Amino acid sequence: SLFTGCCVELLLMLVGLELHFSASCPKNCVCYPSPMTVSCQAHNFTSIPEGIPTNSERVFLQNNKISMLLRGHFSPSMVTLWIYSNNITFIDPETFDGFVQLEELDLGDNRYLSSLGSETFHGLVKLHALHLYRCGLSSLPRRIFSGLFNLQYLYLQENQVEFLPDDLFIDMVNLSHLFLHGNKLRTLHENTFRGLVNLDRLLLHQNQLQMVHKWAFHDLKRLTTLFLFNNSLSELPGECLAQLGSLEFLRLNGNPWGCDCRARSLWDWLRRFRGSSSSVICETPKEMRGRDLKVISKEHFHNCSGSESLHQTKTNTHATLDKTNQKDHHIHPSAKEKGKEQDHQLHSSEPALPTRPRPGHKQHGRNCTRHKHRSSKTAAPGSKKSSNSVHTLDGMLDKDYMTDFGHKFSRDMVPTGSPRRKGKCTKKTPIRTPSGVQASNRGSLSIRASLVTFIVALFTIIR
Ligand SMILES: *[C@@H]1O[C@H](CO)[C@@H](O)[C@H](O)[C@H]1NC(C)=O
Ligand SMILES: *[C@@H]1O[C@H](CO)[C@@H](O)[C@H](O)[C@H]1NC(C)=O
Ligand SMILES: *[C@@H]1O[C@H](CO)[C@@H](O)[C@H](O)[C@H]1NC(C)=O
Ligand SMILES: *[C@@H]1O[C@H](CO)[C@@H](O)[C@H](O)[C@H]1NC(C)=O
Ligand SMILES: *[C@@H]1O[C@H](CO)[C@@H](O)[C@H](O)[C@H]1NC(C)=O
Ligand SMILES: *[C@@H]1O[C@H](CO)[C@@H](O)[C@H](O)[C@H]1NC(C)=O
Repeated sequence: SLFTGCCVELLLMLVGLELHFSASCPKNCVCYPSPMTVSCQAHNFTSIPEGIPTNSERVFLQNNKISMLLRGHFSPSMVTLWIYSNNITFIDPETFDGFVQLEELDLGDNRYLSSLGSETFHGLVKLHALHLYRCGLSSLPRRIFSGLFNLQYLYLQENQVEFLPDDLFIDMVNLSHLFLHGNKLRTLHENTFRGLVNLDRLLLHQNQLQMVHKWAFHDLKRLTTLFLFNNSLSELPGECLAQLGSLEFLRLNGNPWGCDCRARSLWDWLRRFRGSSSSVICETPKEMRGRDLKVISKEHFHNCSGSESLHQTKTNTHATLDKTNQKDHHIHPSAKEKGKEQDHQLHSSEPALPTRPRPGHKQHGRNCTRHKHRSSKTAAPGSKKSSNSVHTLDGMLDKDYMTDFGHKFSRDMVPTGSPRRKGKCTKKTPIRTPSGVQASNRGSLSIRASLVTFIVALFTIIR
């Protein structure tokens, strides 16, 4: 009877464990361990559900109607939080206080958020992806991104930002992608982008840019892709492009270019540029209207004074934080190789994006991003776009960046695991999709169920 008593205890303990396990998962959510994951997406939650386990590492709350984030809603063990496509209007600046494990934070598509406290992201030392697209933001506090030394992906597109304070990105030495398209920016100042020594992609299209400072891109020695199309630029100093020693893909179309003497430095730079660039169609003066600055002859500028010529060179006078990139300059493709590439793109006004990985450069391999039917998390039931259309980096059109595809693209470019996986071909974990979540949960439930059955059977036999 001592023996049976022990088994009863064991049984009760197991049942208790089972109860405890299900009790610690919020109602209408699915939870599973290793790493502890709570999946509560698309359930019309209006607030953070009660009972999120304190050891949760991944929390999925996207596609609900949550309106506020407060201190205590989450715990500092959190590594990933997806809470995009809700109705968040307020984030307590202390919500993520002490979240030193947090790597990915997706707050995108919360259209009424409109402002953020300057402390909101302070101390997030491991953060590598921050999504703030389509959040109705009209301004960004000067110190909002302070201390985000590990950030690699920053998505700020489709907001209403009119102005970027100087040195806003100064700490982001690891930033690779900065998306700012679809805002209301008018001016880029000398120190708007200071400190971004590892930036690879800068998207500024669909803004209202009229003025770009001569040295606005002075730290961007590793930038390969710059989009400035669909702005209000009538001039762009060739000097600012001459800072971009790694540039390969440039789009300037959709601007009212003035092709008088002001255009000379840009014309001169374009003439020497070995990468791929869009057309640069003149709007003024009247007699030049419709012509492409790139193919205007030298004689057009004969009557302009001054004869400084620009090269696509690295000018070190204005580099402030760039200590590492000098040694990397030799890794760029040879002029010959680049010439070949330019050949087949020369007459296209819609240049392609990178088609091949370059040695020594952060680049997602072909097999990671191409030919892949990836189910996008935005393609929830009711989403208007089909998720399985294949978008490749080469052949991407302007419009692809303008609407919700901008988000899909960004999603594809974001590694979801540890930063170590960056640039490697790694399989996505199946937990991204609701069906995977349920399957995995059912699996562990049935294992536990059969264990309980076994104990009950044993108990019966012993009696
Ligand atoms: C959420 O609300 C919408 C609209 O009221 C409804 O159609 C949908 O079924 C709800 N979803 C759930 C999971 O309750
Ligand atoms: C979202 O929040 C706004 C502003 O508080 C409110 O007007 C709107 O009704 C909310 N929408 C939903 C679907 O809850
Ligand atoms: C970020 O930059 C720092 C300093 O340059 C470097 O030590 C660190 O390894 C980088 N982190 C990542 C994830 O690249
Ligand atoms: C520029 O913007 C206009 C209106 O917003 C849009 O119709 C057009 O397609 C855009 N052009 C390019 C090249 O993206
Ligand atoms: C230079 O002068 C010629 C002849 O007057 C004129 O057609 C041309 O537009 C001028 N070029 C510029 C860049 O103003
Ligand atoms: C990667 O893709 C190329 C074609 O783009 C293919 O030839 C190659 O076998 C693929 N490699 C792997 C490991 O799948």
